[in-house]
Amino acid sequence: MKKRIAVLVSGGGTNLQALIDAQGKVLLAGQIALVVANNADAYALQRAKNAGIATQVVLKKELGSQQAFEEKLIQILEENKIDVIVLAGFMTILTERFTGRFPNRILNVHPSLIPSFCGAGFYGLRVHQAALDYGVKVTGATVHFVNEIPDGGKIIAQKAVEILPGDTPEILQKRVMEQAEWILLPQAVETVCAEMTGGKQS
Ligand code: GAR
Repeated sequence: MKKRIAVLVSGGGTNLQALIDAQGKVLLAGQIALVVANNADAYALQRAKNAGIATQVVLKKELGSQQAFEEKLIQILEENKIDVIVLAGFMTILTERFTGRFPNRILNVHPSLIPSFCGAGFYGLRVHQAALDYGVKVTGATVHFVNEIPDGGKIIAQKAVEILPGDTPEILQKRVMEQAEWILLPQAVETVCAEMTGGKQS
């Protein structure tokens, strides 16, 4: 049986779109059952609706605390019998209360070659700005399991992307997405779902 995937999002959702487009092609051992956003205006919600995927919005501000936010997320994921959780541009840090509940079941895509330009405070365009400020000539993307250390879980896949003269954070972000994230993330999700289906993971 296909593994039930929840994708957690905050913004534009281009990585969610890559997963939607991969269904039935690269992504075979799993299917996206639910999209959860922590921002009611996330365009990712529209992408999910266009694909006929159920959506939920969970707002920390409404729930009042990180603990209540994480407990609500856990409740929704359990109610929907989710096997695999994908953080695809989910711009909030999750504590051990949440990550400890789903060991080796949460994947994240990060827009650099971990351990460079990662951890608390490194998200979105800030990651690419930091790579340009440092002057590295190669960056990329990483898909990794999520544990209680921000961007510190076991690496599943990485792909390098060249930095070119004249790059801005926006230009670099687009190249890293096109050449790495949108390819790597569906492949990694498929690998994890296939391994679970094959019974290789507990
Ligand atoms: C992506 O580049 C993703 O790797 C990054 O935010 C962007 C979200 O774009 N995530 C992080 O920086 C997490 N630390 P998207 O909403 O279009 O997928």
